[in-house]
Amino acid sequence: MRKHDLEDSHAFEKTDRPRRSRRARFDDEPEPTRGGRLTEAERVRLARLREDAYTETAIPGGGDRWSTWDEAEHGPHPRPDWVITELAAVDTELGILKTGKEADVHLVRRGLPDTEGTVLAAKRYRSGEHRLFHRDAGYLEGRRMRRSREMRAMESRSSFGRNLIAEQWAVAEFTALSRLWTVGAPVPYPVQRDGTEILLEFLGDGETAAPRLAQVRPEPEQLRELWFQTAAMLELLASQGLAHGDLSAYNLLVHRERIMVIDLPQVVDIVANPGGLEFLARDVRNIATWFHSRGLPERLTAVPELIEELREIAGLR
Ligand SMILES: Nc1ncnc2c1ncn2[C@@H]1O[C@H](COP(=O)(O)OP(=O)(O)OP(=O)(O)O)[C@@H](O)[C@H]1O
Ligand SMILES: [Mg+2]
Repeated sequence: MRKHDLEDSHAFEKTDRPRRSRRARFDDEPEPTRGGRLTEAERVRLARLREDAYTETAIPGGGDRWSTWDEAEHGPHPRPDWVITELAAVDTELGILKTGKEADVHLVRRGLPDTEGTVLAAKRYRSGEHRLFHRDAGYLEGRRMRRSREMRAMESRSSFGRNLIAEQWAVAEFTALSRLWTVGAPVPYPVQRDGTEILLEFLGDGETAAPRLAQVRPEPEQLRELWFQTAAMLELLASQGLAHGDLSAYNLLVHRERIMVIDLPQVVDIVANPGGLEFLARDVRNIATWFHSRGLPERLTAVPELIEELREIAGLR
């Protein structure tokens, strides 16, 4: 499953980072694990800390962990030149951007010791109790899923199963972001996925995140511009046969005057999913309603016409 290309193994030899023998990661383990009172994520975090304590004297520069690049699934090519692939890099936690019910987003700096490094957004899916299975099932409809031991674990909602569900959402979001970035959609570059964590290009300046659309108060001219960018983004998604599935003014960021889409784990295949068209229409209505509430005339959003156009672009009759 993990991709180690040649380039990476060469990079490994060149670094002076000590080679560690890693204990098999939790998601590779054959048997359901017992977490006791600890959540699965906490157990994994503690195991990693323990492991680091045995094998490392200290992580340089006050870092919180070694770069997890080598064990992660990597983002698409061509890889932006700011992506740090050196295995001697360390990750430092800078703080939390937002806590949510299903995931927390943290700010992380990755870099070689004594360098400025790169700021990344780390979205960490929780293996919470609250996640409703019918929601998972509804959105995953149309995705192929093998009925397997993993599937049964997920249905039983054991802590192992819950962690698998969280990982599945991370996989879904990483896959969607990779695909959309590759076709030029306005999404943050997906740097890597490791278990339930995805690292993304940080949209913001310095350590200040770009505002959500919901937080900006655009002048009429800029409001129109942002709407046209939003419609263009929807057309691009439709050309891939996709709808966002949870589009709102909270899942669009305004980064340097450009609309950027985030929060894509529930992306909907509008062709394969029987309810796909309804998701598409709901996305358009939701976001158009926000633009209306900010003063954009309905003749500009032309919701029924836009839905129709997106259907056609997606190849649906
Ligand atoms: N790449 C990024 N760059 C900057 N900020 C980001 C990035 N990704 C996420 N954020 C911030 O974190 C917030 C939560 O991200 P996201 O919507 O992906 O997670 P979520 O847990 O699904 O949130 P919610 O449940 O509130 O929709 C965003 O509203 C945004 O403010
Ligand atoms: Mg969100």
